[in-house]
Amino acid sequence: YCGIVGYTGTQKESAPILLKGLEKLEYRGYDSAGVFIPNQDSTGDELVRQKGRVADLEALVAEKNVNGKAGIAHTRWATHGEPAVKNSHPQYSEDEKFYLVHNGVIENFMELKKQYLSDVTFQSDTDTEVAVQLISKFAREDNLSTFDAFKKAISLFGDSAYGFLLMDQAEPERMYVAKRKSPLLIGVGADFNVVTSDAVAMLDETHDFIELLDGEVAIIDPKAIQLFNEQGDRVEREPFHLDIDASETDKGIYPYYMLKEVDEQPVVMHRLMERYFDEQGNVLIGKAILDEINAADRVYIIAAGTSYHAGLAGARLFEQWANKPTSVYISSEFAYEQPLLSEKPFFIFLSQSGETADSREVLQNINEAGYHSLTLTNVEKSTLWREATYALPLLAGPEIAVASTKAYVAQVTLESILAYALADNQDLNLMEELSNIAVAIQAIVDDKETFKNVADAMLVPASTHSAFYIGRGVDSTVALEAALKLKEISYVQAEGFAAGELKHGTLALIEEGTPVMALITQPKTAGLVRGNLSETTARGAHPYTIVSKSLAKEGDGYILPDVDPLLAPLVEVIPTQLLAYYTSLGRGLDVDRPRNLAKSVTVQ
Ligand code: F6R
Repeated sequence: YCGIVGYTGTQKESAPILLKGLEKLEYRGYDSAGVFIPNQDSTGDELVRQKGRVADLEALVAEKNVNGKAGIAHTRWATHGEPAVKNSHPQYSEDEKFYLVHNGVIENFMELKKQYLSDVTFQSDTDTEVAVQLISKFAREDNLSTFDAFKKAISLFGDSAYGFLLMDQAEPERMYVAKRKSPLLIGVGADFNVVTSDAVAMLDETHDFIELLDGEVAIIDPKAIQLFNEQGDRVEREPFHLDIDASETDKGIYPYYMLKEVDEQPVVMHRLMERYFDEQGNVLIGKAILDEINAADRVYIIAAGTSYHAGLAGARLFEQWANKPTSVYISSEFAYEQPLLSEKPFFIFLSQSGETADSREVLQNINEAGYHSLTLTNVEKSTLWREATYALPLLAGPEIAVASTKAYVAQVTLESILAYALADNQDLNLMEELSNIAVAIQAIVDDKETFKNVADAMLVPASTHSAFYIGRGVDSTVALEAALKLKEISYVQAEGFAAGELKHGTLALIEEGTPVMALITQPKTAGLVRGNLSETTARGAHPYTIVSKSLAKEGDGYILPDVDPLLAPLVEVIPTQLLAYYTSLGRGLDVDRPRNLAKSVTVQ
């Protein structure tokens, strides 16, 4: 996934706005970045591209003293072609007339290149260059306007994913936009308009956005937006107002977004409680949603990565509190190998970004089959939000660090509220319990030094190549999440395991000093997990326990406050987030931008 921003206005210089936007989007992809600012006052067009971070691009733009009141910019996560200047965007046509930035993948670009562009000398290995060379060819040879050439090129891309932003250097105030399966928004201002793949990048300029739907194209000038549907008809759409404070997207006093987002978790829980409970502790979730889930004979939770792990934790709540059979699937698997469904399925999509292409593929399939669904997402108006039958916000605030933390806690919290609302018999006062948990999380995040010390001792040393998290029941799902967090930002090979399963093969990996962290919050299986941990220490493992207070024994590592066992993931995940954070920090890595990854994955 990459980030796109574009700006056209009459007053301000575009370069600082575009670069600031790219900084906010950098978490979406950071192999390379580039900007094109067309000539408006005879100082010359500027195309500036740089391998690496946005900061490097900024330095280069400053050196070149670029000016102009419009422009397009991009930060890239490589799909086709290695990270290199030649492969970064904007890509341009041979005659240097057209400049294009692109999110997504044009699946048939090799065929199109062969069929139409055998006489063109290519500068890059990208699918995007094929698109811009096609636009140029159609404009020249078929004598088409830029808009028509753009549409003709797009018509050849079939069902490929794209968010495009095109400029023609002969029309230096105008941007052309197109979208399919890749998010794009048009931001509206008084004497300017912007385009962005994520609203957070442009919140300093505007809070009013128009969503683009798949297949739509638009022509954007400083004071006019013309939007067209796939059939070529004009579409009028009112902007929606996004109520996010621009400061929420700043790091503030924190060295990394991840730490800020870990610290925000108690606030996120309070926000969810305020939104989803009345003062008496009754749940405020639309009756239609509850009726549909009640009527279903099975709930299917669909998600990827951390959100999938939140689904695994939530499934226990639906089954044990609401008595609702629940299955959890990885979206990229479900999309192409759908299991035999129950008679009356209901689908719940979990997604921080609301844009994960793998999950969207499933949603499209089940929409076609006529099934109903609910999306729990952090991004209102996102694709999964719009395309599901129902949607509820996670209210976690912008999550910018690539490693997801607060979205997980928000997802499990909201799943618990939903399961509670569906339960006939509510023994627990959930609102009270969630407030206790918010207090418990606060106590854990206030204890950072402890986790820094544990990480420094066990996980930071270069001699640590691998690590294990183990647990049983719902703790085994948190073990998966804990291991994912550790591996994605510290590059320590980590595995999360159902503790009882270790002895069936994986125990062979335990060596002298291998860290094994046991999560122990489930009364029924606490003793068994301790037994499994001993099996590893007997083979030289270096153990660490994270244990609920009532199950604690002498010599345990970290003691968690007691909470309802099924809600334990909300507290036990926090130490694991902090251990991952301090391991990444201790190893001198960029915590927020781990190698090879991008926030929000809009390619399959
Ligand atoms: C890991 C992480 C990813 C995401 C996954 C799904 O820290 O963030 O595993 O959870 O890419 O993304 P969403 O939730 O946006 O659908």
